[in-house]
Amino acid sequence: MFGHILNFKLKENKVFINFETGNAIIEVLSPSIINVFSPLKYDDHYSKAIENRTIEKCDITATNSDNHIEIKTEKLTVKIFDDFKVDFYDKMGNILCEDYRENREPFERRGNGYELLEKEGHKVDSQNGNHKIEIIKKMLGEEKFYGLGDKTGPLNKKGYGYEMWNTDDPSAHLESHKALYKSIPFFINLRKNSAFGIFYDNTFKTYFDLGKENSNYYYFGSDDGNLDYYFIFGPEFDKVITRYTNLTGKTPLPQMWTLGYHQCRWSYSPENRLMEIAENLRSNDIPCDALYLDIDYMDDYRVFTWNRNAFPKPQEMIQNLKKDGFKLVTIIDPGVKKDKGYSVYEEGLKNNYFATDKDGIPYVNAVWPGDSLFPDFSDSKVRNWWGNNVKSLMDNGVSGIWNDMNEPASFNGPLPLDVQFKNDGNPTDHSEIHNVYGHLMAKATYDGIKNSTKKRPFVITRACYAGTQKYSTGWTGDNQSLWEHLRMSIPMFLNLGMSGLAFTGADVGGFGYDCTAELLCRWNQVGCFTPLFRNHSTAQSRDQEPWAFDDETLNISRKYIKLRYKLIPYLYDLMWKGEQSGLPVMRPLVLHYPSDENTYEINDEFLFGSNILVAPILEQGKKFRAVYLPKGEWIDYFTKEKFEGERFIVKEAPLDICPIYIKAGSVIPNYPDQSYIGENKIDELILDVYPGNGEYLHYEDDGESFNYKNGEYNLYKFTTENSNCFSINIESLKSNYSAKYTSFKFIINATNATSIKLNDEFINFNTDGSKISFSIPAKNGELKILS
Ligand code: GLC
Repeated sequence: MFGHILNFKLKENKVFINFETGNAIIEVLSPSIINVFSPLKYDDHYSKAIENRTIEKCDITATNSDNHIEIKTEKLTVKIFDDFKVDFYDKMGNILCEDYRENREPFERRGNGYELLEKEGHKVDSQNGNHKIEIIKKMLGEEKFYGLGDKTGPLNKKGYGYEMWNTDDPSAHLESHKALYKSIPFFINLRKNSAFGIFYDNTFKTYFDLGKENSNYYYFGSDDGNLDYYFIFGPEFDKVITRYTNLTGKTPLPQMWTLGYHQCRWSYSPENRLMEIAENLRSNDIPCDALYLDIDYMDDYRVFTWNRNAFPKPQEMIQNLKKDGFKLVTIIDPGVKKDKGYSVYEEGLKNNYFATDKDGIPYVNAVWPGDSLFPDFSDSKVRNWWGNNVKSLMDNGVSGIWNDMNEPASFNGPLPLDVQFKNDGNPTDHSEIHNVYGHLMAKATYDGIKNSTKKRPFVITRACYAGTQKYSTGWTGDNQSLWEHLRMSIPMFLNLGMSGLAFTGADVGGFGYDCTAELLCRWNQVGCFTPLFRNHSTAQSRDQEPWAFDDETLNISRKYIKLRYKLIPYLYDLMWKGEQSGLPVMRPLVLHYPSDENTYEINDEFLFGSNILVAPILEQGKKFRAVYLPKGEWIDYFTKEKFEGERFIVKEAPLDICPIYIKAGSVIPNYPDQSYIGENKIDELILDVYPGNGEYLHYEDDGESFNYKNGEYNLYKFTTENSNCFSINIESLKSNYSAKYTSFKFIINATNATSIKLNDEFINFNTDGSKISFSIPAKNGELKILS
């Protein structure tokens, strides 16, 4: 479609290319990130995902070779041919990514029963259409694909096809769903231990086929927008994620309490029901930090109002909850009830804050409040207005906002594609805004909370686009109390994490349908390791709180919720590190072991950071499973047995056991038992140590403000070494936060120590089987564990 190359020009970091029938720009953002662009619709990017487009200065050459242009950076060679075919090579000249030169050849769908099948209600894959923009890449062999946000199905997406169109589909999520709530047009290609990513920054409906219609190629495309994609080289797997999040933003460090356990339901109403839940949590000794109000707290579902019959004095109620350590999170949907006299509606109408039809009349569709209007979040004035409304909730003491139905969902058919949006001065329609509607709502909410509280905002959103991680956590929407959904949630979290969203979670126990006691136990064992740990269920289902079944379920749920509270400082460290590296909390094994082929397709295990491996039980009645341990030595968390990795082991796992393994050389910071985060000031940090060689950074701050951005934090480095004896070096790297630990309590596992020296002085310790423990002042020092 572009024809022959006519000429080109290198200007700073961009190569401008003129073709016979179009023009293009190859832009070097860094030696490893290349943007491939053609202004098919707009003259510029107008990205909704990338806020700070930073260019790293680097050496670039662009030369004319006989039939192509050759652009070189320190890491990559990009060759551009006629028809805008683009190939990428590493600096050794190995091909990484090659445009496919033939036309697509989809497999034939034989049979002519399409209409009949549809009549019976079967979902039938549509014929493979041609798209206005199609970038077809040659399958070079042995590729694995990861990413693409919240798509259902396995971890490795090879052989599957998906669409990006934010979708609220209340039917049970299946592997065959082409789209769910989030559109993250980014995937990672791993081949021969070398990885790169492609981010197709296009908010229209986009299509991804990773060798489904033909194993000779994979493609991505869209029916509108610009040709605008980023080639993000690793070659290391984790570097691809870091570089992708350098572009689209990192998940910011949250307030620490948000990492606790959250109890939710549609709906805890009226007030005494909410209070009963709070009391049950404390009396059953279930640690919990957050309680939720679903849609019934509002006055007939009017956003930013309270149902005063059910909640007569919200401010007072919230203060009472706070006294007992509970933070309240309230739901806010986008739909504003069409209702004369309702101030949010009247104000929005007066100021033209709602999306309109082609004639400029506010567009109406039905959601929970009945006929409703849809705020135009693509307009910064509307985002500010929304943010101010959010402020009113925060002023009442609300601690976080849950954004739902923001695909946007609608009950009277989907929003027509020609619904109009102002788009900050570049008016456009729903076909372009749909996939970023929730993203922009989350941004408005984040800014509103930040402006009013000055604390790190807590937002949960259902709909996302690339980059939403900057503003919000994401939950995976309306799953069901099905074992299949517990299983499916793991590759979903892992792919979301590789797509930039580090802070995610699913409704623990399942949203729809009725949970069973066993399913809740196993789900809490997974929830314990998901960054957002929230039990939530629908209005008509059975009660699903930890005490709603039997003593065994209560005890097992408590065991894992308490384990979560123990691991809070480790999880907080991961969030802090993630704000720099972009790496998620939950990681597929392939992320850290990309040269080990056994890790490529593991759908039912994950790493929690790099030190903890979790292999949960995901099937009813199952009491054992095979666990793959990658290279290195791993220690069973409960039995302290040691295992050499790079092999499968069989682990027995009765209902109260979730198989967990710690990498040798790990130092895992722990907190003592608490009913909620911040219940007690932690003066003594517990360090759970597994002998071996390693290094661990621990981060400490006030847990809520932005002061850490000005350097108000402490950083401790623990270096473990196993040579003549096992030693631990303690070093304070930064010490700017004043309310710091006074002591460290070390627990050394799997050791037969006979004596311990701190800076060459013998110290006392306690022995408990193969475990020893002792406390020392929180100072620099060298520990020697002698046996
Ligand atoms: C949607 C949400 C669900 C919520 C319900 C009522 O289905 O996904 O979490 O409880 O709406 O607000």
